[in-house]
Amino acid sequence: MSLDLSLRTAQGCDPRDLRGVLGQFATGVTVITTCTADGRKVGMTANSFSSVSLEPALVLWSLARSAPSLADFSAASHFAINVLGAGQHGLSRHFSRPASDKFAGVAHASGTAGVPLLDDVVATLVCRNVTQYEGGDHLIFIGEIEHYRYSGAEPLVFHAGQYRIAAAHPELAQ
Ligand SMILES: Cc1cc2nc3c(=O)[nH]c(=O)nc-3n(C[C@H](O)[C@H](O)[C@H](O)COP(=O)(O)O)c2cc1C
Repeated sequence: MSLDLSLRTAQGCDPRDLRGVLGQFATGVTVITTCTADGRKVGMTANSFSSVSLEPALVLWSLARSAPSLADFSAASHFAINVLGAGQHGLSRHFSRPASDKFAGVAHASGTAGVPLLDDVVATLVCRNVTQYEGGDHLIFIGEIEHYRYSGAEPLVFHAGQYRIAAAHPELAQ
């Protein structure tokens, strides 16, 4: 951990340092899935997921322009957000690495437009792929939630480049 607490200039800084400050924001972990027109299943790990609006029910996530799946997600009518549970760090790693068929051996069902829905995740949101915005070296996807389910199980947490589990706050827990 850096003890240099002076304000640094972001422009021209070491990208690893920028990653370091952004990683201070703890997130959950999702696998975002879709299905191409020719039936190929696509999935990737993302922690950029966020809620946007309740009425209408909108969410967002961002995808690196360099990602091989960019064209597939851009063309998709729907995608699903699969929110991973505390024990699913292996699935997170699996979907963050290239593979000829990332779904081989991964338990899942098919949802709207063939979108893969992973079994036993904490929450599933099936979204219509509404629009995309430019976001520098990423593309920001906005989805409208059409269907959802959630189990209330413990989530997987990602913080400072590490997988973690959530704990009740000791000062607030009864
Ligand atoms: C915890 C975690 C979170 C990630 N979040 C994102 C993200 O939000 N957006 C992104 O483009 N890549 C993210 N990645 C990297 C992608 O999962 C990785 O580049 C993946 O291989 C892309 O899939 P593709 O090669 O099939 O396109 C993340 C990786 C990890 C391990």
